Amino acid sequence: MSASEKLPQFSQPYWRDLDFPSFKPLTEDLTVHVAIVGAGITGITAAYLLSKAGVKVALLEANKVLDGTTGHTTAKLTAQHNLIYDELVSHFGEEKARLYYQSHQDAINFVKQKVNEKGIDCDFSQENATVYAYTAEYAAKLQTEMEAYRRLGIAGALKDTIPFPIEITGALMMENQAQYHPLKFLKSLLQEAVDSGCQVYEETTATDIEDDKTAPKVYLKGGYKVTCNHVIMASHFPFYDKIGLFYARMYADRSYAIGITTEEEYPGGMYVSADYPARSIRSTPFNGDKLLIIGGETHKTGQGTNMMKHYEAIAEFAMTTFRVKEILYRWSAQDLVTLDKLPYIGPMTEGRERVLIATGYKKWGMTTGIMAGHLLADYVLAQDSPYKELYTPSRFQADPDVKKAITTNFDVAKHLLKGKLEVVDKVTDELHDGEGSVVMYEGKRAGAYKDENGKLFVVDTTCTHMGCECEWNAAEKTWDCPCHGSRYSFTGEVIEGPALKDLTVLTDEEN
Ligand SMILES: Cc1cc2nc3c(=O)[nH]c(=O)nc-3n(C[C@H](O)[C@H](O)[C@H](O)COP(=O)(O)OP(=O)(O)OC[C@H]3O[C@@H](n4cnc5c(N)ncnc54)[C@H](O)[C@@H]3O)c2cc1C
Ligand code: FES
Repeated sequence: MSASEKLPQFSQPYWRDLDFPSFKPLTEDLTVHVAIVGAGITGITAAYLLSKAGVKVALLEANKVLDGTTGHTTAKLTAQHNLIYDELVSHFGEEKARLYYQSHQDAINFVKQKVNEKGIDCDFSQENATVYAYTAEYAAKLQTEMEAYRRLGIAGALKDTIPFPIEITGALMMENQAQYHPLKFLKSLLQEAVDSGCQVYEETTATDIEDDKTAPKVYLKGGYKVTCNHVIMASHFPFYDKIGLFYARMYADRSYAIGITTEEEYPGGMYVSADYPARSIRSTPFNGDKLLIIGGETHKTGQGTNMMKHYEAIAEFAMTTFRVKEILYRWSAQDLVTLDKLPYIGPMTEGRERVLIATGYKKWGMTTGIMAGHLLADYVLAQDSPYKELYTPSRFQADPDVKKAITTNFDVAKHLLKGKLEVVDKVTDELHDGEGSVVMYEGKRAGAYKDENGKLFVVDTTCTHMGCECEWNAAEKTWDCPCHGSRYSFTGEVIEGPALKDLTVLTDEEN
């Protein structure tokens, strides 16, 4: 059977194969101390810490808890964020690079401590993390990264081999990292938060914030509002950004993962490639056996080619590296990358600590989200933290930021124009069942999808965020925006922001 034939028909992350509690939408005005928008790893960690500290918290989730990026991760819990320390040392200096490492180690220790203290059954295990190279160029980078490890006192070692039939030019191991089932762990934290009085609301979308100096307000889609002392925006991409501070400083990048069973026994450890094609390997306990999670491929959201090709490339890699029994799961998701590669955690505007933000985790949010939850709780509780300055959103490292900001915005402008100028000659009659495409519809560019029963859905592909034209994602059957990563279902509903308004539906009539 070929790699593509082995792939499951539908996208479904392994982690979501669990029962979750459900929560009602908020249908009245509310007053709390802290309103947290977004129930992913960041929002739930902050909600847990603040509720345990006796703070009155409301956690507002647009969809279902833990069904955003956190539900679609590969969940390595590590401070080895591919190659980063040499760059951090040269960009920010040794002291800040050490703080970066320490802040992520603290996050791993927090999870470990909670697991031991509460006996949380979340498949936690300590593992070494290894980054490997395919080329001489990247083997040299591993050497300089190892030199940075030495300077920073990080326990690690260079290796010549990894236990897989992959031709490599070198590898760098970081000792004593970890992996877990993030949703089992966070479900337990969420339950503790609820037991401590945290109010959780699902299907409750925040649309705006009034950044009042004493009592900020969060406005909701249904017309209700939450008045509070602090707002924490843990919504992945900030839904509120009046002056476009974050849109210009981040981009959304997608990756793909599959869950496979294999004939051979897995040797342990977590692996990621330093150069391209991007590949990631780990395992997790599964029905008395192991499920291997193979990840990789990467492209800016809305800018890939046929997205099924990315799954096929990972499946091919799995089949040449392992004796694959079955591919049981496939899923994909996106994360946000900032210009200087550090996340933005802290006050949205310098000196105004009532509206806080955490975003830009560069696909390393398992430690960053836990760390951000702690840091945001420190801001609310007016506690010191050695990490505030490092991650503050108002930091300004002039040179690299400015150059990249220009590139990022140029890229947005390019896509804004491209979609408008594109010549589209396909029409809805040419679509097969189960196919979607940009089409010409009533004289205009539109997005059409014909479902398995021949029912046609046509939407205006103009993104409701800032007007770029969305592209079809055949693997997830969604409309994805190439500018800031908003995503919509084929019926036009927002799945992922920053967009808050659905696409205009042009038709969903029987064909
Ligand atoms: C394929 C992939 C693999 C990854 N693998 C790893 C890994 O191995 N290790 C690692 O450390 N990191 C990894 N990451 C990164 C990590 O998964 C993310 O950084 C992290 O999950 C982000 O968490 P979050 O809480 O910021 O966002 P989310 O989990 O997306 O939570 C945000 C929530 O906010 C809600 N929301 C959004 N807007 C609104 C609104 N207006 N009103 C109300 N609610 C709203 C969303 O519905 C969502 O539930 C990976 C990422 C990807 C894409
Ligand atoms: S997400 Fe910003 S224009 Fe679409």
